[in-house]
Amino acid sequence: MRFSRMSAVSRAVQSAGIPLLVVSMVVTTAIAGIPGYFILADALGPERSNEALRVYAVIALCTAVAEGVALAFGIFIFWRLSRRIKTLNDEIRLLVRNVLHDIRTPISHISNAAQRILGGDGCAEDAAADISESCSRILSIVNANVEITNNYARVAELPPGEEDFSAVVAEAVELFSAVADMKGVSLSLETPSSPVVLAAHRHKLQQLAGNLIDNAIKFTPSGGNVTVSLSETRDSVIFKVTDSGVGIAKSDLPKIYDRFFRAERSRDTPGSGLGLSLVRAIVTFYDGDIDCKSKPDSGTVFAVTIPKRK
Ligand SMILES: Nc1ncnc2c1ncn2[C@@H]1O[C@H](COP(=O)(O)OP(=O)(O)O)[C@@H](O)[C@H]1O
Ligand SMILES: [Mg+2]
Repeated sequence: MRFSRMSAVSRAVQSAGIPLLVVSMVVTTAIAGIPGYFILADALGPERSNEALRVYAVIALCTAVAEGVALAFGIFIFWRLSRRIKTLNDEIRLLVRNVLHDIRTPISHISNAAQRILGGDGCAEDAAADISESCSRILSIVNANVEITNNYARVAELPPGEEDFSAVVAEAVELFSAVADMKGVSLSLETPSSPVVLAAHRHKLQQLAGNLIDNAIKFTPSGGNVTVSLSETRDSVIFKVTDSGVGIAKSDLPKIYDRFFRAERSRDTPGSGLGLSLVRAIVTFYDGDIDCKSKPDSGTVFAVTIPKRK
């Protein structure tokens, strides 16, 4: 419902905008222009050429110019606003379309599995496992979207704790080492020996580290390597994940943080296209920065910088 109201507002602003602008231009021109014209005509008239009237005319001219500039500025702001509303509207439409598209497959798996159980067709345990897997998939799509939205909206949160990012990263590497081993990807960790403490929420740091490490392993073929490193300056923490994987095309780089974006060549790898969007939302939440450098068929480096205090 919120979505349709949004698009109605957007349409109303956009359709009312042009007539509104024309009326305001006519009114402003009349207010500034008509008295200005008489003052100017009077000041420049043959019998009235004294210095005071000339100054008066210049002031009137300046006022008219200032009005013109203000009007142009107003038009510019209006144009920017209506474009922003349109972009937001498009993003919401895309989001809804993608969520619906993404949950349709697991829902049809659930339905098939339920039919199998009801028809006594095949093993009920397998069907239950399919149902459970599909439910987890839907839940992860819903949770990721809720997380991203909460981060964007900066919904009231528990206050951040003093977290040791170094321990979080070590845990994440430990967690992913089995996956890396199975894939034949070497996973290494470079962290300072002392704790790297920052004001943050542990589960957000876990999501951030986990998503970047997961991607690095996922998009690195067997025989490649992934290096996870953490360092700090006086005010910030720098977390880097470097891989020797498939890389990202230059034209795709601006899109990788968009919800549901997946590069053409990664579509046969499992995923939802929500991980980096969530990572960026978390980084933004802590007023940090994320940078990606990549070369196709050579590898990718993600570098996240987070201030120790927000
Ligand atoms: N380390 C990486 N190497 C190559 N491509 C990557 C890497 N990380 C992200 N990408 C690209 O960015 C897309 C978006 O990433 P993400 O949001 O985590 O989605 P997912 O992992 O579900 O595909 C990926 O599908 C992939 O095309
Ligand atoms: Mg991912």
